[in-house]
Amino acid sequence: MQPFAIAPSILSADFARLGEEVDRVLAAGADIVHFDVMDNHYVPNLTIGPMVCSALRKYGIQAPIDVHLMVKPVDRLIGDFLEAGASYITFHPEASEHIDRSLQLIKDGGAKAGLVFNPATPLDVLKYVMDKVDMVLLMSVNPGFGGQKFIPGTLDKLREARALIDASGRDIRLEIDGGVNVKNIGEIAAAGADTFVAGSAIFNAPDYAEVIAAMRAELAR
Ligand code: DX5
Ligand code: ZN
Repeated sequence: MQPFAIAPSILSADFARLGEEVDRVLAAGADIVHFDVMDNHYVPNLTIGPMVCSALRKYGIQAPIDVHLMVKPVDRLIGDFLEAGASYITFHPEASEHIDRSLQLIKDGGAKAGLVFNPATPLDVLKYVMDKVDMVLLMSVNPGFGGQKFIPGTLDKLREARALIDASGRDIRLEIDGGVNVKNIGEIAAAGADTFVAGSAIFNAPDYAEVIAAMRAELAR
């Protein structure tokens, strides 16, 4: 199990002041910047791309940037995000024609690689690429939008993913994304997650530090 990490999703940040928002949330105690990339094709929404990632690096953000690709196809953007300073790059197996190759592209570029599983996507492919995976991301909402409700069935799936990761003996982060808040983070951790994406729960609050501290208090219980 990796140390707990809080990864605010900047999807819910104020895009007009993105650099300041990322500074603020890191100063408030966040560990990882979760960067949601949507293409209006794989998911029905359109967000930000590699130019914004490299702008954050130029602005001075040094924390790990966790790029969640909700795009199809994935491979060309992998190259762009490697150049833009991504630390983690994750993609949905349904969106890649050649999952092993896409993972290898990320690793060859020096970033950490991960697979993202939608709520109804089975974890089957994982066992064939476990040696190339540094992060497993389970979606607890259908991807495309912030502010949705956590799908409770994801808790069983987390337990399943945790068992597969533990059996591999590798240092793989188990991340959860969608509808995470102070109320449910404790049971999500108990089901095996170590990395928690939260967008609206953090950015819609007046005091980011207070929410993050409350989340950490739940994790320490
Ligand atoms: C949804 C994105 C999430 C989203 C989470 O497709 O992948 O990262 O921003 O937002 P909340 O925490 O509001 O559910
Ligand atoms: Zn995400």
